[in-house]
Amino acid sequence: MTPMLEIAGLEKNFGDVQVLRSIDLKVARGELVFVIGPSGSGKSTMLRCCNRLEEPTSGSIFIDGRNIMNALSADLNRLRLQTGMVFQGFHLYPHMTVLKNVMLAQTKALKRPKAEAETRAMDMLGRVGLAHKAKAMPTELSGGQQQRVAIARALALDPKVMLFDEPTSALDPELVGSVLKVMKDLNAEGMTMVVVSHEMGFAREAADRVVFMDGGVVVEQGTPDQVFGNPQQDRTRAFLSRVTGAE
Ligand SMILES: Nc1ncnc2c1ncn2[C@@H]1O[C@H](COP(=O)(O)OP(=O)(O)OP(=O)(O)O)[C@@H](O)[C@H]1O
Ligand SMILES: [Mg+2]
Repeated sequence: MTPMLEIAGLEKNFGDVQVLRSIDLKVARGELVFVIGPSGSGKSTMLRCCNRLEEPTSGSIFIDGRNIMNALSADLNRLRLQTGMVFQGFHLYPHMTVLKNVMLAQTKALKRPKAEAETRAMDMLGRVGLAHKAKAMPTELSGGQQQRVAIARALALDPKVMLFDEPTSALDPELVGSVLKVMKDLNAEGMTMVVVSHEMGFAREAADRVVFMDGGVVVEQGTPDQVFGNPQQDRTRAFLSRVTGAE
């Protein structure tokens, strides 16, 4: 079956610094791929290349079988909607209600009629457990709730794949669980997901595959048991002992 996301020979240079060196990665439909690696190893850059928020230097990105590198710039915004992105910061509009935040890109980018966008927004807010906060302002929510709104906002655009870049790193520890729970449920319902995170416990419970990146390459990948329990590469072992030692 065609992978939902395929990264093939992806390279990215910033000036004369090569940040990604020939990355190949396939993500099957419904799969949750968890990406780890040291700071500066290229994790965020790889995710950003997947919807051309960052322009790859070379290589291909296939979403559901279609090479988005071939897209005309006029189609780019529509293509970007196929990949929902969730970042460390939530970037909600502070002067709009939660409901309006989840409606905005639907009406602007997808040109959905307002009533339909509202129905969809309420559905997605329900899915992240926040239907009762629809009329609240973002500042009235906890960080964990705001991040769940950001997830609802991305989901409302019907993405084919969801990309998470350290979605819980900015949260107080007691708020992390509610966001991870939403992510776990989302994957259980069939969403294809790539998650960059330091939440190793979540990876053990929810990831189908763990990918370890270092220096712009995929050094090693396997099931959570394989990568955490029996890493094959020295670099993976060194990284894991550093991060688990620091916990
Ligand atoms: N816009 C940019 N211009 C120049 N260099 C950049 C740019 N964005 C990232 N880099 C460099 O690319 C490399 C990879 O950065 P990236 O943010 O992808 O790493 P990361 O694995 O996500 O790190 P972290 O764990 O700290 O988030 C780093 O050396 C970084 O300095
Ligand atoms: Mg990063």
